[in-house]
Amino acid sequence: MKIIAFTGAGISQESGLNTFRDKGGIWDQYDLNEVCNFFRLHKIKKMPEEREKIFAFYNLLKDKIKEAEPNKAHLEIAQWQKKYGTDNVKIITSNVDDLFEKAGCINVLHVHGTLNKMHCFQCGHEWESDLNHNYRCVKCESRLTKPGVIFFGEKAPNYAIMNNWCNHKNFTENDYRVVIGSSLNVIDAHTILQKHRNSYSKDSYNILINKDRTDQDHLFDKVLHGKATEEIFKVSAVIFSSRLNVKLGVAQVSSLNSYFQISFCHEFA
Ligand code: APR
Ligand code: ZN
Repeated sequence: MKIIAFTGAGISQESGLNTFRDKGGIWDQYDLNEVCNFFRLHKIKKMPEEREKIFAFYNLLKDKIKEAEPNKAHLEIAQWQKKYGTDNVKIITSNVDDLFEKAGCINVLHVHGTLNKMHCFQCGHEWESDLNHNYRCVKCESRLTKPGVIFFGEKAPNYAIMNNWCNHKNFTENDYRVVIGSSLNVIDAHTILQKHRNSYSKDSYNILINKDRTDQDHLFDKVLHGKATEEIFKVSAVIFSSRLNVKLGVAQVSSLNSYFQISFCHEFA
């Protein structure tokens, strides 16, 4: 069985990290258009003073991330990897925090990069670094550097890997694509689900866990509107429901809904 978890800012919200588009989120505190504008590569190249603003934004975020601990949703997905192996449980996130790594997850694909790296435009070098203010590249000494995250308008370098992981050829029956805590405004989860949707095996499932409804709910076989740290256990019960079938003597539960109904009525009554 294969599971791919796509996660957005909502999975880290219960660890105390702000989401972007919720009320009081990051885009309530910063003007998104201004950020989009000054977070542009050409801006950094021409206006190094813009860099101060960018590093101030990310250093603030970085300090919050340092204090944050993984929550039950991160830890449960780490359990999925332990139970089924890191080759069968892949994690893709648009988050720049390291909460999956802190939870013990392996091979996490950060499609928007991470904040524990710096990137040099001059020579392309990337190095582990606490965001600092000398900005100098450790390799070529250039000052044209930025935090190792994707800026607006930049192509996500890991997009090809993400697309390959989600290719319909990799999914057979009883495989799951689980999206957790994303408004699906930006993360490419829904574009990839749409792209492969008609060729995915009809016995593989798209599940969405999100506190609020999204414009992409229709893409999913099952939508759980609620907190990631609670809904994740319902998904675990379904995914690992082989023991449940035995317990209920259910030889073959034909559809995901019946899985959820049976497991919920049984496990979550
Ligand atoms: N449990 C489950 N879902 C939650 C929780 C929670 N505790 N808290 C919030 N959510 C949901 C919200 O309902 C919202 O739909 O998480 C979603 C977060 O949406 P966004 O803030 O838009 O974050 P995300 O989808 O990850 O997109 C963020 O957009 O601006 C870019 O680069 C930025 O990577 C970032 C991306
Ligand atoms: Zn360099």
